[in-house]
Amino acid sequence: MIKKIKGTYDILPEESEKWQKIEDVMKNVARIFNFKEIRTPIFEASELFHRSVGQSSDIVKKETYDFKDRGNRSNTLRPEGTAPIVRAVIENKLYADASQPQKLYYYGPMFRYERPQKGRQRQFHQFGAEIIGSSSPLVDVEIINFAITYLQALNIKDIVIKVNSLGDKASKKQYLEVLSEYLEPNINKLCKDCQRRHKENPLRVLDCKVDQDNPVVLAAPKPLDYLSDSAKYHFDHVVLGLESLGLNFEIDKNLVRGLDYYTHTVFEIISESDKLGSQSTLVGGGRYNDLISDLDGPDTPAVGFAFGAERIILALENSAFFAEESEIHAYFINLDNVFENDALKIINDLRLGGLIIDYDFLNRSLKAQFKQADRVNARYYLIYGEKEASEHKINVKNAKTGEQETVNLDDLYQYLLSKFQNSNISKACEGCNGC
Ligand code: HAM
Repeated sequence: MIKKIKGTYDILPEESEKWQKIEDVMKNVARIFNFKEIRTPIFEASELFHRSVGQSSDIVKKETYDFKDRGNRSNTLRPEGTAPIVRAVIENKLYADASQPQKLYYYGPMFRYERPQKGRQRQFHQFGAEIIGSSSPLVDVEIINFAITYLQALNIKDIVIKVNSLGDKASKKQYLEVLSEYLEPNINKLCKDCQRRHKENPLRVLDCKVDQDNPVVLAAPKPLDYLSDSAKYHFDHVVLGLESLGLNFEIDKNLVRGLDYYTHTVFEIISESDKLGSQSTLVGGGRYNDLISDLDGPDTPAVGFAFGAERIILALENSAFFAEESEIHAYFINLDNVFENDALKIINDLRLGGLIIDYDFLNRSLKAQFKQADRVNARYYLIYGEKEASEHKINVKNAKTGEQETVNLDDLYQYLLSKFQNSNISKACEGCNGC
């Protein structure tokens, strides 16, 4: 039997309802913040990720899915969404669009060859947002607020918001020199990974899990202490904005993030719930003012975030948000041959009016049809056979109370609608009648 590839998984129908729910909330929150969706290809030229995420990052060093196409070009399955969005913005000249800044969001699968565990897969989904074209600290606040609002809309609590600043290009460069000089004589006191990292990516030493209590790391100089005046002004105003929104956040001087493109603000939201195990970071993001020019676009500031959707699903495990069982409006109980009466037409008309209707395809007995109706959680049974057809009527029975009424077929749709007027099962759509 052919099995799924390690680190991937199937989202089966019962699970996919949960996914649709978190995706709906995502779209609604994006809408109230006035972000527009952008969709880019799942694979890109490998060079895009090498030049953006960074040669020294774990992602590029050991996690990308690279392949040669039949034209011998190096392609990579996207490990994240920011670089492809930036590529698309440059290629489609969205930076020159009259509407600035561009407020974009995206959702889709990403691929990283990581060691799979709870909350960490090789194919996973990110919901991300990017604001491109403004250096205002208000934009950093907008993006962080967007991320938090999404979590609030899902009623995910027990979270910690961490923010830090890496400074602008000049202050980051100066800081990296200071940090390297500091680490050099202490190198043997660091873990194996950090001994390697300290040369190519010294920033990562600060957020090393193994060395987090190491006195060398604790006493290391921090980026926040090396900000230029303008970088400090920027960060102070981000903090002011978050405070004026009444958000509870902490400044984590060791927060550096694992991708090379960040400047200024970086942030993460961590779940404190034990449902997520060791992979507790729900969302990570920050500013990347130099990435667009580094990728040969015009000098354009930007900031963004990305959620791991699998981690959102884990955080919502057993929550009221998923408790509601899915229901359908009615199940059509077919007493006789549907081909010889108007059953198919009746069902279809109700569906085109936006009602969720199902019926039997397995030639079940009457009893088994009622059973199936209960299995799919139908609110009403629509009982119909030759006799009803000859009278142009149908029997509508409430599945819970057992109450039954005979309704003229011409009134069926309105009759059902009236039954669902104040109900939590809404029409699936506005209905296609006439469209
Ligand atoms: P990242 O921190 O690499 O940032 O990923 C963002 C989120 O994606 C993580 O916080 C986590 O929830 C989820 N994630 C990452 N890897 C996995 C995995 N293997 N399995 C499950 N979930 C995972 C970025 O990707 C940046 N592009 C974020 C960003 C947007 N920065 C600016 N704009």
